[in-house]
Amino acid sequence: MTAPEALRAALVTALTDSGALTADWARAFAAVPRHEFLPATIWADENGGDTECSRTVDPEQWMRLAYSDVPIVTQWDDGSEGDRSTPTSSASMPTMVAEMLSDLDAHPGHRVLEVGTGTGYNAALLAHRLGDANVSTVEVDPQVTTAARAALERAGYIPEVVCGDGALGWGVRAPYDRLISTVSLRDIPPAWLSQTRPGGVIVSPVSPLLGGGAIVRLTVHGDGTASGRFTRSAAFMMLRQQRYEGAPVDDYLPDEWPGDAEQSWTKLDPEAIGDDWLAQFACALDLPDVYYRRNLFGGGWTWWLFDTAVTSWATVDSAPGESQYEVRQSGPRRLWDELEAAHDRWTAAGRPGYERYGLTVTATGQTAWLDEPTNPLGWSTLAT
Ligand SMILES: C[S@@+](CC[C@H](N)C(=O)[O-])C[C@H]1O[C@@H](n2cnc3c(N)ncnc32)[C@H](O)[C@@H]1O
Repeated sequence: MTAPEALRAALVTALTDSGALTADWARAFAAVPRHEFLPATIWADENGGDTECSRTVDPEQWMRLAYSDVPIVTQWDDGSEGDRSTPTSSASMPTMVAEMLSDLDAHPGHRVLEVGTGTGYNAALLAHRLGDANVSTVEVDPQVTTAARAALERAGYIPEVVCGDGALGWGVRAPYDRLISTVSLRDIPPAWLSQTRPGGVIVSPVSPLLGGGAIVRLTVHGDGTASGRFTRSAAFMMLRQQRYEGAPVDDYLPDEWPGDAEQSWTKLDPEAIGDDWLAQFACALDLPDVYYRRNLFGGGWTWWLFDTAVTSWATVDSAPGESQYEVRQSGPRRLWDELEAAHDRWTAAGRPGYERYGLTVTATGQTAWLDEPTNPLGWSTLAT
């Protein structure tokens, strides 16, 4: 079996060669034993999937995965036994870990708060570079917290590990120079602003309701607000408190479909949005209170659009090979027309990438913008 040290060295070389790992973090990546942070059963494979792998049954594959550039699921459904429908804790993909640490721009002497301890691996990297005393990390799940504490101790690190809701930050050690979240959310919590010193940096995944997701890098200003651009695409687990189920379809459409819906036709295949993470993200920033679900229909999909206020719905039938698609819309809003218009605006702007979008956050809400804060999009929400 290849020794973990050799596998780790190969991972560091690969991450350095790809440009994800910067020189200031390379030593930490070379020193922290990622395999010590993983449970005996993990879900991962070389293709980024979630194939079960047991250390007892296949120790070689388990160790190889520990040092592969893939995300590793470590918990399903908040730890409840059953069908394993939603991954709820993981060791993030090493490329993403390295890139987010680079976005964080932390330096020795900085005090850092991490939200979403997970396995504890990222906290160990922070503790290695910045010192145990400068790192606090918050995890909502008691079992995950206990496992992370034990793994950190085994690997020789003792940052402060707190079990609690990371949306509240951790006021005890505030103010922080840097705050990094490894769990995604729609609204940046006000507590993060007040617990980060002016000039400090907040790095977090953001997942708007409609879809898509990206890392935002915010600088906190003297007036307690924060602003900054998105840096890169990212798909992270949602903060427990910001998961969104949506209302039952019957609340929108009590009668048989299509009810009183108006019929029309569109030339835009909704799958062109569904298949494109960036397009979804751009449209989602424009339409903060709209979400979609898809049902298999014939050889294609029926898209259902809903608003969070439960006033309006729309369906669009997408079938391969068609040149136009049937639309039904009901309620005071025409949700498909709104989504198509958002997509047109993104296309007309030259299909801007993540880094052209940004976010301004205040104690009471947040606004997304394109290119400059003076060019706000529709995304303006009240922070919860
Ligand atoms: C992608 S994992 C974090 C990966 C981790 N940083 C690592 O190095 O292994 C996301 C974690 O966020 C946790 N989480 C979800 N909601 C949370 C909340 N409100 N506060 C703190 N942690 C939360 C999940 O339980 C999960 O363990």
